[in-house]
Amino acid sequence: MTAPLETTFAEVESVEIKDVPGRIVVFLDEDGGMGAVARRVDRLTRGAVRRLSQSPAFVKGKAGGGHVLAFPGGLAAEAALVVKLPRRPTVADARLAGAAIANFNTSVPLTVLAGALPRVAEVALGLGLRAYEFDAYRTREADAPAPNRAVRFLVRDPAAAAEAFAPFAAQISGVFFTRDLVSEPANVLTTSEYAERLLALRDIGVQVEVLEEPELERLGMRTLLAVGQGSVSPSKVVVMQWQGAGDDSQPFALVGKGVVFDTGGISIKPAAGMEEMTMDMGGSAVVAGVMRTLALRQARANVVGIVGLVENMPDGAATRPGDVVTSMKGDTVEIVNTDAEGRLVLADVLWYAQERFKPSGMIDLATLTGAIIIALGHEKAGVFANDDGLAQSFLNAAAAEGEGAWRMPLGAGYDKQIKSRIADMANVGGRPAGSITAAQFLRRFVRDATPWVHLDIAGVAYVSKDTELAPKGATGWGVRALDRMIRDRCEG
Ligand code: BES
Ligand code: MN
Ligand code: ZN
Repeated sequence: MTAPLETTFAEVESVEIKDVPGRIVVFLDEDGGMGAVARRVDRLTRGAVRRLSQSPAFVKGKAGGGHVLAFPGGLAAEAALVVKLPRRPTVADARLAGAAIANFNTSVPLTVLAGALPRVAEVALGLGLRAYEFDAYRTREADAPAPNRAVRFLVRDPAAAAEAFAPFAAQISGVFFTRDLVSEPANVLTTSEYAERLLALRDIGVQVEVLEEPELERLGMRTLLAVGQGSVSPSKVVVMQWQGAGDDSQPFALVGKGVVFDTGGISIKPAAGMEEMTMDMGGSAVVAGVMRTLALRQARANVVGIVGLVENMPDGAATRPGDVVTSMKGDTVEIVNTDAEGRLVLADVLWYAQERFKPSGMIDLATLTGAIIIALGHEKAGVFANDDGLAQSFLNAAAAEGEGAWRMPLGAGYDKQIKSRIADMANVGGRPAGSITAAQFLRRFVRDATPWVHLDIAGVAYVSKDTELAPKGATGWGVRALDRMIRDRCEG
């Protein structure tokens, strides 16, 4: 797994600032005002920090932005980043400052002179999230320097900062787990390899079971199996349980689409851009990242994560358009388009989750439809729900974490689009409202008594441009929002 930055907090008074090697970071407030540490750096550099604070670039620069002083006289450090952070920074300001620091990191040691800075743990969170690169398959030239992966915060109260940062470190680790899974190519992350990586969560106290094809057959998961039957990789369902609140309380369920590669099946996709369908297991990877975070921070909540791992391939055994299959629930589905496979996987996993665990609530995540990208772009995920309370608690958590989310409608009127010639329903509903008909399909497999939210993350799981807290590629969208929602809802 890509290792998060090693983040440590030490007493600022214990260090001789002029001798700190590598790169350093200091903070000024929105008026160029300095704390005690920044004043010391200003004195050592004979006023360079003050001069920078009076420059138009700094004065006009945004909160959380950084400005570089290269080779400052009076310091051993080769460069100093001067970050503009308001006296009363918002959470977003602080995380943005952290991201600016991540972009300043090179291959030399990095020291953040934070002193009594407010929200220092949030700065470290932003830094940790932004400092990600998936370089497992890049061979490096022998003499290229290794990127620096250690950062030292010099603060007034190291114990308090470390304590505040601990749950954030768990989030960073969960997000990196998600990003790595999403970034892996499909020839490496087969269903079997994926199951192995989830089984490794046992090391941190998560109970993990892998249900294999014979068991899925016995359970009657024919819609899920229909997706994987054209692939040489066996379909699997992986159940991950974190039991942090004892044995008696009903768990909250997280369900994820884990299509390790989506060719479209016999309804094959066009060649252009098909390589991106290696991210079609993004929903399941978010579930895995949340489970990892919960375990690492020893959450006092019962949560079960269930993911359906399949590969959607065309071959002689593959499902044909027009095939009719019976779901675990018992409803029949005409598979009109084999490329609408995510809902077939989720239908059985949603039903299984309810039958086995009677969850207090359930959220599924899936890179389900291209139509959600048309509707909301790459800024926000689509939020569909049968329960306003659960929808609102997710939306609140997402807003607090800066993860874009937008409520979308459901409604019986859309059901006519998924009527089938011969079965209880068809798996596609035509072009209009494509994300809503997909959600409406899923709803058939959710009991009215189960509070349920469906998150269509096709637009946000993987992006082609850098975002504030993630480099381009796999984002890990949703790990932090779900972790926060579980904290707010289940650990109160
Ligand atoms: N995995 C795709 C959706 C997707 C598209 C995810 C783009 C990420 C980026 C899904 O399985 C799919 O193919 N959906 C079809 C549904 C259609 C056949 C009703 C789509 O959106 O075109
Ligand atoms: Mn598809
Ligand atoms: Zn898909």
